[in-house]
Amino acid sequence: MLEDARRRVDARLSELLPSEDESPTELHAAMRYSALATGKRLRPALAMASSLAVGGSENAALDAGCAIELVHCFSLIHDDLPAIDNDDLRRGRPTCHVKFGEAMAILAGDALFALSFEILAGCTDDSRKIAASVGALAHASGSLGLVGGEVLDIQAEERGGDQAHLQTIHSRKTGALIGASCRIGGILGGGDAIQCQHLQVFGEKIGLAFQIADDILNETSTAEQLGKAVGSDRALNKLTYPALIGLDQSIALGREVSEEALSHLTHLPGDTSALRTLANYVIDRHW
Ligand code: IPE
Ligand code: IPE
Ligand code: MG
Ligand code: MG
Repeated sequence: MLEDARRRVDARLSELLPSEDESPTELHAAMRYSALATGKRLRPALAMASSLAVGGSENAALDAGCAIELVHCFSLIHDDLPAIDNDDLRRGRPTCHVKFGEAMAILAGDALFALSFEILAGCTDDSRKIAASVGALAHASGSLGLVGGEVLDIQAEERGGDQAHLQTIHSRKTGALIGASCRIGGILGGGDAIQCQHLQVFGEKIGLAFQIADDILNETSTAEQLGKAVGSDRALNKLTYPALIGLDQSIALGREVSEEALSHLTHLPGDTSALRTLANYVIDRHW
């Protein structure tokens, strides 16, 4: 599922992104460099699988999945900037600001964010579905979602925090967008309000587990395997699950949250096998 989704998303993203021949060429080169780098494409895969889970088609959520992926790419470019995590390696190659300079990286992130909403606004003729999807993506991206989570994440380097605060950080910086991916897939697949709510909560919980795993891998994996720096969370004094409760308890918590996520799939009328495969992938990849 993930392999197939990845191929289709990569091909569609390449069509949707402006050509490098288009002015300003350096900006478009930076946008394509980051967005077309080898990513797992988990969020679009979840959006497409969520459409299937309410009885819709994968195709109904392909463009929306690409839109969500561009919000994710924007967030990675900005997350890596010197003012935030100051990382040099992303997706196995130099980060956007290392390759193109800081100004271009900031602006490439801004432009990817804008392009995301342009794509989402044109992904179907059904204006009610568009309005609901745009609202969900904007909410998940903003101060109560991803951007707010990034703020709490950097503030916690100095201020620390307890486990409840850490859960808030992870739920916002990562859980919100993954929750929105599932909700938007449900909306475009024709799901009703209750089904879309179950999909969102499923996604939020999978997203929390995914970020717990990201914390674990920062301590246990290698830069070759991850395509990004390891050991950096400790170096920056990040508030993470392994730092707060240790590796074993982090693994146990990740499993627990994933189990809770799966319980929401029983409320859905369509084929949930792809969502189960993706949930298991999140678990198996990390622990
Ligand atoms: C990395 O996301 C940042 C997190 C929110 C954990 P991914 O692990 O999905 O990164 P890519 O898209 O595969 O590079
Ligand atoms: C990722 O946070 C969350 C966002 C980019 C919004 P991290 O800083 O923990 O992710 P990596 O480890 O750099 O991918
Ligand atoms: Mg970060
Ligand atoms: Mg980071």
